[in-house]
Amino acid sequence: MAGKAEVIILTKMHKVFLAPSILSADPLNISGSIDGLENNFDWLHVDIMDGHFVKNLSFGAEVVYALRKKYPDLFLDVHLMIDKLETILPIFMKPNGASLITIHAETDSHFLHASLSEIKKAGFQVGISLCPPTPVSAIENVIDLVDLVLIMSVTPGFGGQKFIENSLKKAHELVSLREVNKLNYKIEIDGGINADNFIRVAKAGVDVLVMGSAVFGNENPAMLLKKMKSQLKEEVETF
Ligand code: DX5
Ligand code: ZN
Repeated sequence: MAGKAEVIILTKMHKVFLAPSILSADPLNISGSIDGLENNFDWLHVDIMDGHFVKNLSFGAEVVYALRKKYPDLFLDVHLMIDKLETILPIFMKPNGASLITIHAETDSHFLHASLSEIKKAGFQVGISLCPPTPVSAIENVIDLVDLVLIMSVTPGFGGQKFIENSLKKAHELVSLREVNKLNYKIEIDGGINADNFIRVAKAGVDVLVMGSAVFGNENPAMLLKKMKSQLKEEVETF
């Protein structure tokens, strides 16, 4: 598998999306942090944390619906880091909110097939996420249901952590699995992505790069995103 993945990674160029994570935006001025950036990124990543699945709390569903109202055309990439899916999921599945809803392979894993199908049936794109210790093999039986696989490249819960290198091995495996099974899911990576490592990560076959602190901690996020886009165009994408 590893050998085959290497060939694919070296030969297949792909379009790479940038997805700033509002976890690192100014909590008192989220839309102010986004305004003026819209033309420089592809997706907006919204981290939902419940204080159980991860050791932190973040936003409620109201933030997703408010973002949709203010930015009707934005692709809202909602990452649910929560337990109690059966209670919380319906709150996020109302119309005029998320574009894509990602749940974790580690949450109620015996209900994974049902939960993914439910999200899809409600008309959303659906993603599945893997925490750093969870292998790709954990989702092989449901991977044909998803539009996206999200590799957590830090322990979920907080922005500003160091990228876990082993995550690239998962990206290689997912590229290979997608090719072998003729599937179409996007591969997204989340945690520790910055201006120093994003090209290397994109070259491993990743389609969507989530970035929190690197974007919102920068004094000129628009300029940074613009620069990253043109570097991706030159070094990774064919179009
Ligand atoms: C972490 C979140 C990430 C976070 C990434 O649990 O899922 O989306 O915002 O932040 P950085 O890019 O700072 O690692
Ligand atoms: Zn996230």
